[in-house]
Amino acid sequence: MQPFTFKYQPKTSMEIIGQNEAIKKLKGFVVNFKKQKKNAALLYGPSGTGKTISAYAIAKELDLEILEVNASDVRNADEINSLVGSAIGQMSLFSRGKLILVDEIDGLSGTKDRGGLQAVTKLIEKSSFPIVLTATNPWDYKFNALRRRAELIEFIPLDYLSIFEILKNICDKEKIRYEGEILKGLARRAGNDARAAINDLQTLALEARELTKSSLEELGERNKLESMPNALLKIFKSTDPKVAIAAFDTVEENLDQQLLWLDENLPREYTEPEDLAKAYDKLSKADVFSRRIKRWQHWRFLVYINALITAGIAVSKKEKYRHYVQYKPTGKLLKLWWAKQKAMKKKAIAEKIAEKTHTSTKDALKSTLPYLQVAFKKNKIFRNNIIEELDLSMEEIEWLKK
Ligand SMILES: Nc1ncnc2c1ncn2[C@@H]1O[C@H](COP(=O)(O)OP(=O)(O)OP(=O)(O)O)[C@@H](O)[C@H]1O
Ligand SMILES: [Mg+2]
Repeated sequence: MQPFTFKYQPKTSMEIIGQNEAIKKLKGFVVNFKKQKKNAALLYGPSGTGKTISAYAIAKELDLEILEVNASDVRNADEINSLVGSAIGQMSLFSRGKLILVDEIDGLSGTKDRGGLQAVTKLIEKSSFPIVLTATNPWDYKFNALRRRAELIEFIPLDYLSIFEILKNICDKEKIRYEGEILKGLARRAGNDARAAINDLQTLALEARELTKSSLEELGERNKLESMPNALLKIFKSTDPKVAIAAFDTVEENLDQQLLWLDENLPREYTEPEDLAKAYDKLSKADVFSRRIKRWQHWRFLVYINALITAGIAVSKKEKYRHYVQYKPTGKLLKLWWAKQKAMKKKAIAEKIAEKTHTSTKDALKSTLPYLQVAFKKNKIFRNNIIEELDLSMEEIEWLKK
């Protein structure tokens, strides 16, 4: 038996749901490749949103041969070069056009010893064919150099209605009977991941050609760890305390983070002032308990807190809101993230120095960078040379100046 994700994989870009903008950009990039300043497009976005299939669909539509390298299978620069190196040269007069796909570059190592990323970055510069890269997190500092050489194309997180549409198509073709609400429930619990949703559907369809409420519940037992947005869905979109109370049982994030997520997203979901006031009342009580736990180690309070922030918040609304809200991490978590990014900038510069001076990043960080920073501030000629030599980004220049 074939996996549904394979059997019903979109063959043309028309069949790819919810990513029109990205498809348009990618097609434009490939079609106008000769006129582009950049030789690569970096498709980024959450898992299971159509990045890989889009590259294939577009190659097929434009009658291009596709050379795929899965970055997680290659370990070092040599391997990348031997797989892709010979493919990027001039096209012979009679050969078909080509598209080079370096899939899932998240796994590539940016460290000097293995250098897979540097190899890809260099290949991009030399390539006479469009190179398409995919990543789930393109903002990792190790991609700094690469990001500047690639056109960034975002694949947006699929909303549950898009996923619902994908599932509906499959159900119709497979003659699986369903109720709209149950299929929507299935779409919701997959987060933004169409692949996960399709796999869930197939698992359920194995047992019966009809989706029932109980089969959906059973599925919930099976998948252990869930994402924070899914946990919030159970609280916000349910008025049943029994559903809500288990919401955080399967998430990894700790209590502080649970409170922050709720605090951030409550006003987006509960738009009725009365509901919001009630819900915040529960949340603030939970917050008080959580401080007491910290101060006096009254762990028993944990039970109250959980009840307040799950069932308590769920029943604070008169009825379910029908709108769709994309739940986001909080500004406070973002601040922590920014602090980390700053440290990363320093490290990114050190990596560049390490590459040029053939030392380790650690050495560059400790011994070269401090001097370089002083000279950078004082000597303008030196500064300009360094900017050019290390190919520093605006942000990195700013960082060195401060
Ligand atoms: N936008 C979409 N429209 C229709 N089906 C989709 C869409 N996105 C994903 N799928 C389904 O999910 C499967 C996986 O999609 P794809 O391999 O393109 O994900 P991806 O974005 O590359 O994820 P990853 O980052 O995990 O590699 C596809 O085979 C297809 O069945
Ligand atoms: Mg992929």
